[in-house]
Amino acid sequence: MADRLILVTGGTGPLGRPLVRSLLEGGARVRVLTRQLPGRRVEGAEYAVANYIAGSGLARALVGVSGVVHVAHDLSDPLRDVQGTLNLLEVARAAGRPHFAYVSIVGARRVRGFGSYAGKVRGEELVEASGLPHLILRATQFHHFADGLLTQASRLPRLLVPDGVLQSVAVEDVARELARRVLAGERGTLDFAGPEVLRIPDMARAWLAARGRAGRVLPLRLPLPHPVLRAMQRGDLVEPEAPRGTVTWADFLSKKAARG
Ligand SMILES: NC(=O)c1ccc[n+]([C@@H]2O[C@H](COP(=O)([O-])OP(=O)(O)OC[C@H]3O[C@@H](n4cnc5c(N)ncnc54)[C@H](OP(=O)(O)O)[C@@H]3O)[C@@H](O)[C@H]2O)c1
Repeated sequence: MADRLILVTGGTGPLGRPLVRSLLEGGARVRVLTRQLPGRRVEGAEYAVANYIAGSGLARALVGVSGVVHVAHDLSDPLRDVQGTLNLLEVARAAGRPHFAYVSIVGARRVRGFGSYAGKVRGEELVEASGLPHLILRATQFHHFADGLLTQASRLPRLLVPDGVLQSVAVEDVARELARRVLAGERGTLDFAGPEVLRIPDMARAWLAARGRAGRVLPLRLPLPHPVLRAMQRGDLVEPEAPRGTVTWADFLSKKAARG
């Protein structure tokens, strides 16, 4: 396994860091693609400066790799992100046709009118059409994403949340699952979800309690303007039958509270 070199785009991000660690633990060599060498590096990994959207440094970053895990995502501009995925696939095809794994989002296909999710669906299509041996892992929303939404909502006196459901998952669980399948050279498309389908108002109450904060949660039933919030109300972002992680929302909240 130590002869396998895997390139991880987004290896400096919330999912990428634990993924790099899991791949190293699995015995692979890992090269992280980043726009700028980070101060905090994962011990044992090598780093390559490149930009998957501008295309700079890609050919060098792909030299000698037997696998690519494309975790990076430019949320600010879906068209640029899709072009970046295409750049990476083209360079990979010219660089010995490595196994290519792509991280997407459960339910993205069911959300209409949100460019970022449409971009993930387009990214999946490009990977499928690439001719490269590939794996697509669609994850549900990360616990820290739900945490971020609730932090934003908590700026108002009441916590206004969609009256819907989420099945959020820990990045460490996604990283372990993805690393295991990448190291086994698996192909195909799979969904990977959090351990529990929870009502968002209940998640919000637990979130307030974990902060020792009083406050009222107001579940919103009227269709909300944002397509992703409406998808949560419809239950379109969960996949109860999918393989699941083990770290619950309560685990995530207590670990976060312990860190302070
Ligand atoms: N957030 C969720 O709830 C959720 C749920 C399911 C799936 N996903 C998917 O999971 C993946 C990982 O998400 P994440 O939240 O960990 O990361 P992210 O915030 O989506 O992406 C951040 C990473 O992208 C890299 N990046 C951005 N633009 C780049 C560019 N032009 N060239 C090279 N690298 C670039 C950054 O690297 P540098 O800054 O070091 O250059 C950083 O490591 C994404 O594909 C996302 O769509 C997310």
